[in-house]
Amino acid sequence: MRATAVAPANIAFIKYWGRKDAALRIPSNASLSMNLSSCTTTTTVEFSRTIEKDSVSLGFTPLEEKRILGHIDRIRKLTGTTDRVTVATKNSFPKSAGVASSASGFAALTVAAASALGLRLSQKELTRLARLGSGSACRSIPDGFVKWEGEFAYSLYPPDYWDLRDILVIVENSAKNVSSSAGHTAAHTSPYFEKRVQEVPTRILRLESALRTKNFQNLGEVMEEDCLDMHHVMQTQNPPLYYWNDKTKELMEAVKAWRKSGLPVYFTIDAGPNVHLICEGKFEGDVLKAVKDVQNVQEVIVNKPARGAHII
Ligand code: DP6
Repeated sequence: MRATAVAPANIAFIKYWGRKDAALRIPSNASLSMNLSSCTTTTTVEFSRTIEKDSVSLGFTPLEEKRILGHIDRIRKLTGTTDRVTVATKNSFPKSAGVASSASGFAALTVAAASALGLRLSQKELTRLARLGSGSACRSIPDGFVKWEGEFAYSLYPPDYWDLRDILVIVENSAKNVSSSAGHTAAHTSPYFEKRVQEVPTRILRLESALRTKNFQNLGEVMEEDCLDMHHVMQTQNPPLYYWNDKTKELMEAVKAWRKSGLPVYFTIDAGPNVHLICEGKFEGDVLKAVKDVQNVQEVIVNKPARGAHII
């Protein structure tokens, strides 16, 4: 009645922002991501009749704890068990600074809890279940490059398909003040939300074509366009969400300058100030060298494409 799972965070090249069904976390638009090798969550779940009280390891706010135990209840209901639970979880990266800790967290939690209870679920079913905990978590279950549309997520290509890098530049590692969950709920209040929803399907096609032909420039261009579009919606919804700080903006400008000087690198940013620099593996050294010249960077994490959640 005990299992440990590890799951990667993922970076969306086309982002999930807004939901068709809030309770079921059905997204307003499809999204497409890459799993991150160096940003993982490892979670051990144990169910037992002898445990006195459900508990979650230290470091979570009461709200987060409630969300984790709510997800455990959802999984417990599938078997009818009333056994209590102990959840112990550890991240390999700073928590809640726009690194998708809810993605790796709920993916690892889902896979570990399902395994501890002996549930035999297909990968497709696991993605559906993880989605109910956190939308982006369903993309951390299949391997490599993953597409999420509607209820399920599935792998488009394995991790070794394309040697890309996500060089994650941490500019602030304190917790963010507005969770993405609250943000999704108000996304539709932006006058630009509907336009975004209409434009994403074409962007998904452009990104799929860039992946198929391994055309890095096309991938970078559509990825940056979608990131800026999502932040435009965030910044114009009510209340507005502004996740960037001065360092974020400095890095966005630097990326443009690096590209002008011939270095093929593009940025994307989630619900926080940190900047993900996407490049091909052969340019990792050059990008790292360029980042060294940026002052006051807290940490740099180099990610390769990774496999999805699995039991260890
Ligand atoms: C900006 O998956 O964290 O990172 O479903 O409420 O848990 P919930 O939201 P979450 O949203 C992620 C938003 C994003 C974009 C993305 O990863 O697609």
